[in-house]
Amino acid sequence: MAKPQDNRKGVYIQSYGCQMNVYDSQRMIDVLAPHGYKSVENAEDADLVVLNTCHIREKATEKVYSEIGRLKILKDAKKKTGGNLKVAVAGCVAQAEGAEIMNRAPIVEIVVGPQAYHHLPELLAREARTNGEKLDTSFDVISKFDALGTSRENTGATAFLSVQEGCDKFCSFCVVPYTRGPEYSRPSGKILDEAKSLIDKGTKEIVLLGQNVNAYHGGGDMSFAQLIAAIADLGGVERIRYTTSHPCDMGADLIAAHGQIEKLMPFLHLPVQSGSNNILKAMNRKHTRESYVDIIESVRKYRPDIAIASDFIVGFPGETDDDFSDTLSLIEGIGYASAYSFKYSKRPGTPAGAMMYQIAEEVKNERLQELQALLTKQQTIFNVQKIGTNLPVLITQKSRKNGRLFGKSPWLQSVNLHGEDALIGQIVDVKIVGATAQSLAAERVSVLENA
Ligand code: SAH
Ligand code: SF4
Ligand code: F3S
Repeated sequence: MAKPQDNRKGVYIQSYGCQMNVYDSQRMIDVLAPHGYKSVENAEDADLVVLNTCHIREKATEKVYSEIGRLKILKDAKKKTGGNLKVAVAGCVAQAEGAEIMNRAPIVEIVVGPQAYHHLPELLAREARTNGEKLDTSFDVISKFDALGTSRENTGATAFLSVQEGCDKFCSFCVVPYTRGPEYSRPSGKILDEAKSLIDKGTKEIVLLGQNVNAYHGGGDMSFAQLIAAIADLGGVERIRYTTSHPCDMGADLIAAHGQIEKLMPFLHLPVQSGSNNILKAMNRKHTRESYVDIIESVRKYRPDIAIASDFIVGFPGETDDDFSDTLSLIEGIGYASAYSFKYSKRPGTPAGAMMYQIAEEVKNERLQELQALLTKQQTIFNVQKIGTNLPVLITQKSRKNGRLFGKSPWLQSVNLHGEDALIGQIVDVKIVGATAQSLAAERVSVLENA
């Protein structure tokens, strides 16, 4: 019998920026599926391309405009052969520069902000009628989550789950409070339903997401630590992680949870940004170097082996050599397992963008190199310590390049090993046989025993 014809349209979503955007991209596919769209692997096969954009640094924003240029060529080529390609811009650049995008790049037919993407089908329908509003950057986060529902498609062994959105912290360098809007916590019942849906589809690890995930408070009825405990109690889930946290929201119960909830993985991403109290104050971070160190020490009391990760900004306006040395000495004292580090990027509309004493590019470059050299050294030390130990790895995929399996250790280290495809989605016991700053090499324990 002939296969029924698949008349669905192809949608390709290119995601930039943080994990919240990756989650949102998956949910956009869920929103479009009932309207006759299926996900495709590349822009060439698509009828609709959505760029889910990031505004955090200047470079991230520039990428969007160069990608729009590439899509224009593709759209023109499709037109010549009688085809059509619609282009939509979503995410944080859409929120910040929506109208400007539509003026600057006429091939963009739809602009949708991060709190409005559940309106995508409606915007597409309006676009097809060639009139009506095609830009939606409204901020109704509650109706977004209501519209999304809690049933999830199969996302693999590890899945993101957004529990909190937006930020009220207003660090002076950051656009997030403007692009994602005010802090909002999803009701815990909805989150638990979504977690169950993921577990039913075979997810072993759930990564709880929020711009400020540990500010989660339910509707005032549940702390973030209680939410983690409730998810652990669902059964079926093997590993729980969360990202990203703010030091001011590291409550005592969350710190203790790292010693009490076995499924909560020994990894804490707690951005500090700078080790200088002067700079932290100018950044409006509302924590000090000392209060940050106290938190790390308390977490280590509950979970001595915990891997600590952070984000750093070098070259914030007014950062002196002494301020920068304070950052290096903080890093020396803590010992990081991994980190992201960035040159300060001036963002429109933020208080730091208007500050005096912006730092010269070459100074930022030098500082970034020195900081990254120290962090790479620490990361290597952390990874090399694991050589010779046995540990459980969640296998998530197979590398297309070398055919090896790829997974994550409890400390979020990347692990490579040889093994059969059937192991994908499983937690496997391995012995670590090699390490670099970036990853671990492993052999399966059962294979070693049989040798
Ligand atoms: N909500 C998270 C992080 C959000 S953005 C938190 O509070 O930690 C991710 C990282 O980007 C930040 O931690 C910061 O290190 C970096 N970042 C944000 N704005 C930046 C800017 N203007 N220039 C350079 N880096 C920036
Ligand atoms: Fe940005 Fe600060 Fe909010 Fe993080 S806490 S999202 S860095 S304003
Ligand atoms: Fe970028 Fe928006 Fe995330 S600015 S980092 S995509 S919240």
